[in-house]
Amino acid sequence: MNKIENYIWEDFDELGSTNDAAKEKSATVSGQNFIITTRKQTNGRGRRGRTWIGLEGNLFASLGLEFELRYLGQLSIVISLSLFETIKKLNPNVLVQTKWPNDILINHAKAIGVLIEKGEGDYLIIGIGVNVCNAPETKNLLYLSTSLKDTNIQIDRIEFLKLFMNIFNQNIHLLQTNGFENLREKWQANVYGLNKKIVVNMENEKLEGIFKGIDENGTLLLQTTEALKKVYAGDVFLIDEEKDARI
Ligand code: BTN
Repeated sequence: MNKIENYIWEDFDELGSTNDAAKEKSATVSGQNFIITTRKQTNGRGRRGRTWIGLEGNLFASLGLEFELRYLGQLSIVISLSLFETIKKLNPNVLVQTKWPNDILINHAKAIGVLIEKGEGDYLIIGIGVNVCNAPETKNLLYLSTSLKDTNIQIDRIEFLKLFMNIFNQNIHLLQTNGFENLREKWQANVYGLNKKIVVNMENEKLEGIFKGIDENGTLLLQTTEALKKVYAGDVFLIDEEKDARI
């Protein structure tokens, strides 16, 4: 049985979606965290019903992690911070930013997307798509897109995953021993759009305001003309900055 850190790891040649495979697996195990990866992903899913394009050589991974659901917001930030730190470790000079809720931008373009879903029992399924060597065409996408290779980071998908898992485990340990505050500060110090005017597109409405960071649960804080509002889910877009308008 293969392992990465303390996670059982299975790598497939082809899957529809690693998140779907991980959900199915979560129904058959307990007391064991696991990772599913695939070389080729034919039906990758993004957040809010979007498609995640599965270009060859990129990383498609889903972690099955037993975790208390009430700490989901914190976990999402810790995942994002760990991905940020993985890239920084590989190339300290590159401009990397976290983007709420858990995307990673390199030079203002999206390099990593994360889709967290509920699995069976106490499992959370954390789906991670990393543009390791291929960035999808951005014509029909909501945002600009880039890859690690575009940034002169030459790494194989599994080597990236191993490095990330090592950093993630360390951060989970920090979360469990010292709490969320320090991790929140590190994530927020590198976040895209802080104190800028943003619009958040939600399921049925749009809210405009100044992005004031995140609270102790990873919830977005938006200063609107009426109040400081909490936003639990949505897509963030910067207003007034032509260059970044599509991110
Ligand atoms: C997003 O930014 O919209 C989230 C994208 C998440 C994509 C990953 S790829 C591995 C895992 N399996 C899926 O079907 N989706 C996630």
